[in-house]
Amino acid sequence: MDKIHINGGRPLEGTVQISGAKNAALPILAATLLVPGLHSLNNVPDLRDTRTMLKLLETLGATHSRKGTTVYVDTSGLTGAEAPYDLVKTMRASVLVLGPLLARSGYARVSLPGGCAIGARPINYHLKGFEQLGVKTTLTHGYVEARCVTELAGATVYFDMPTVTGTENLLMASVLARGTTIIKNAAREPEVGNLIDMLIAMGADIKGKGSDRLTINGVGSLQPVEIDIIPDRIETGTYLIAVAATGGKVRIEQCNPAHLPALTEKLRAVGAEIVEESNAFVVSCPEQQGRSRCNLQGVDIKTMVYPGFPTDLQAQFMALLIQAHGTSIVHETIFENRFMHVAEMQRLGADITIDGASAVVRGLPPEKLCGAPVMATDLRASASLVIAGLAASGLTEISRIYHLERGYENMVEKLQALGADIRRVS
Ligand code: EPZ
Repeated sequence: MDKIHINGGRPLEGTVQISGAKNAALPILAATLLVPGLHSLNNVPDLRDTRTMLKLLETLGATHSRKGTTVYVDTSGLTGAEAPYDLVKTMRASVLVLGPLLARSGYARVSLPGGCAIGARPINYHLKGFEQLGVKTTLTHGYVEARCVTELAGATVYFDMPTVTGTENLLMASVLARGTTIIKNAAREPEVGNLIDMLIAMGADIKGKGSDRLTINGVGSLQPVEIDIIPDRIETGTYLIAVAATGGKVRIEQCNPAHLPALTEKLRAVGAEIVEESNAFVVSCPEQQGRSRCNLQGVDIKTMVYPGFPTDLQAQFMALLIQAHGTSIVHETIFENRFMHVAEMQRLGADITIDGASAVVRGLPPEKLCGAPVMATDLRASASLVIAGLAASGLTEISRIYHLERGYENMVEKLQALGADIRRVS
């Protein structure tokens, strides 16, 4: 089992390029199932999760190849409609094949994703939406069988919570349905917008991109397309926070600053200096360079759906707050168990107390944070431990780093290029 070793306390300096967004690539890969033909997807990150999705498309009969950051997917010859448990259990986003398979062939059998470290994560909103479009869903032996009773017919779907993949699944199920579908309380994340751009390029009729109300008028047919995946805003935010936590000055390129309004606000409140360009950030944290008593100011954060503070950056931001002046409150509203990183940060000396859906963080001087062996529990928690290790003095060993490789392309190499003393150890 590989580990990551970090000798912390060094400021990050230099330039880093951001990869394509994992959470845009996954629904867009699934959407290639909607229509037979050769699709060209540009800026696809090479991650454990995108490789899993490609493996799933293969089991359904698609073929694919990669040239640099472009992935070609040919879904002409689908031979199956089942997403098996052994794939779904490694990546819940496999449920994203339900919508396109229903639209393409009226049937899909997908293993019900179990829970995961951060919560139960049911898909009841997805299934209720499908049923409103005329789909019968049954649960047998841990698999969801979804079958169109006659044909998919448009309906008005209301989500109790703005589910990201639920919105994406219903978009893909409704683009070829008869009549109009309205999705109310839809997710507004940029990754949903990237999928909408792809569907419209395929010939779909969708109004309301970026809003919480989407109107989809079903069309008769779609065409295969070429589409560019947007930059990964969570990877971008992770590097922004890492610079703030370790000091230094970094230029972050091939990103979209407009996708991170809440994070940049909070980072400036903490004391980071951030310059925004059209597709780049320059971030520095002069307060941290002295490595004396850090002059970072603690702030409160509350995770919200987009454009609020992203839950996917909560753990990473906590790795900053543990060394900031004063007491900060971190309130997690999206998932019920997304504080798995707290116990690991406490091993580095952090002073954090969990109180229900909130964590109370009392900042310590950076020199009080000492490296230690820690264990990654989920994707974003593993990123937060990398940041904490970069800031702590001494050696931090992170185990179970397969979590990290699900969502960060070449993170060790990118951080080495920024001067971090970090390496992968078998
Ligand atoms: C997407 O997950 C992302 N994954 C997650 O990123 C992200 O944390 C999450 O959205 C929230 O932004 C992908 O896009 C592949 P939700 P998703 O449905 O769609 C509840 C990462 O680190 N809910 O928006 O699964 C659910 O339990 C991952 O890259 C239901 O109750 O999240 C949660 O509390 C982690 N029933 C809330 O809604 C449903 O049917 C939001 O979940 C669906 C969701």
